[in-house]
Amino acid sequence: MDKKLKIGVLASGRGTNLQAMIDGIQRGELSAEIAIVISDNRDAMALERARKANIPTVYVKPGKKSEFEREVINILEENNAELIVLAGFMRILSPNFVNHFPLKIINIHPSLLPSFPGLEAQRQAIEYGVKITGCTVHFVNEMVDAGPIILQEAVPVYDDDTVESLSDRILEKEHKILVEAVRIFSENKLKVIGRRVFIDKTGSDKCL
Ligand code: GAR
Repeated sequence: MDKKLKIGVLASGRGTNLQAMIDGIQRGELSAEIAIVISDNRDAMALERARKANIPTVYVKPGKKSEFEREVINILEENNAELIVLAGFMRILSPNFVNHFPLKIINIHPSLLPSFPGLEAQRQAIEYGVKITGCTVHFVNEMVDAGPIILQEAVPVYDDDTVESLSDRILEKEHKILVEAVRIFSENKLKVIGRRVFIDKTGSDKCL
């Protein structure tokens, strides 16, 4: 049997992207195991979702950034995390943290990067007036929302969209591309050359 990829998830809130991974694993679409879910928010619904799926959880109190990150690194290492997924994790990680796990941290962001990085990407898209936005899964590098892009999916913006309605439409696609990106990573099919990420499609019947 294939060795399962061990994933460490960092999440601050509701945790629907975490849930999409849990469901993907339960449906057999992902050969992976979520080894630990870490949150900087004691009340995050993500922690509740993890507990329901019998996944170990840890709340790390945010204090001094270097100490917070040191503790998170220790927990990820103790749990042998081979991939770290930022699933709605609302803190910026320092270069020290990122360089500890080169090309091993991925993030889901609710816009077509490099447009609308940072907070409230869906609101930014509506206020700017774009007709198409979407979501991006990317490797995390030292700059915010700027690492090599793994997968993106476009989503239309309608005239009567609110931040909520647009966010919901994007979220559906987030769940899909996040699970897909984790699957491709777990199958060792990603090759990064500079800023570009290439996906080995040999032997795949899936259209990416
Ligand atoms: C998602 O829309 C995710 O893309 C976004 O937070 C939401 C978390 O939802 N992340 C960011 O904006 C990171 N910059 P979830 O907790 O239900 O997965």
